[in-house]
Amino acid sequence: MEFFIDTADIEEIRQAKELGILDGVTTNPSLMAKTGKNTRKVLEEICALVQGPVSAEVLATDKEGILKEAHELVKIADNIVIKVPLISDGLKAVRVLASEGIQTNVTLCFSATQALMAAKAGATYISPFIGRLDDLSQTGMELIEDIVAIYQNYQFETKILVASIRHPVHVKEAAILGADVATIPFSVFDKLIQHPLTDSGLAKFLSDAKKIPLS
Ligand code: G3P
Repeated sequence: MEFFIDTADIEEIRQAKELGILDGVTTNPSLMAKTGKNTRKVLEEICALVQGPVSAEVLATDKEGILKEAHELVKIADNIVIKVPLISDGLKAVRVLASEGIQTNVTLCFSATQALMAAKAGATYISPFIGRLDDLSQTGMELIEDIVAIYQNYQFETKILVASIRHPVHVKEAAILGADVATIPFSVFDKLIQHPLTDSGLAKFLSDAKKIPLS
């Protein structure tokens, strides 16, 4: 399973990278807005830091506008992945970008049929937003289960990138279902590692070790 970080904050990306398990980055316009900086500059900084895929979202909602923005964004770095909303014009643009060898991440996916359409269009990644479904009392993880089954039935190459992750259980369940990627907020990365029994166990080992000579 690949781990991406879901942020545009360069400091958070730097810290996640130090863990040695970071495979890529996803951004979106809301995450960009939080930085208060110029989008292109932020993307340049991220791509200089991370070799893996970096998703950059288009703002246009018509096919031609999406293609124009995509062609500008890919000039930033070789590892840019074009993030496109799951709308008709978005899928038309994805088809063209796929034929040009440009990687895409189809975002704002909330149903299995949307994911099927994105795969048919040739998306590199599909981003189902599980946390936002949970927020509406639906079960986001059931969507992942459905997409895994559909993609396996037809051997689609589109990778399932689980997005809108809120806590470690989302990561665990996505891994059990065999999702390809989890894009994880910075706050959740640490929680994947921590356990109070690890901390208390380590403290006990270290204090017991002091009771006898080392050699
Ligand atoms: O990057 C897309 C997605 O992960 C957004 O998450 O928390 O805004 O629903 P959230």
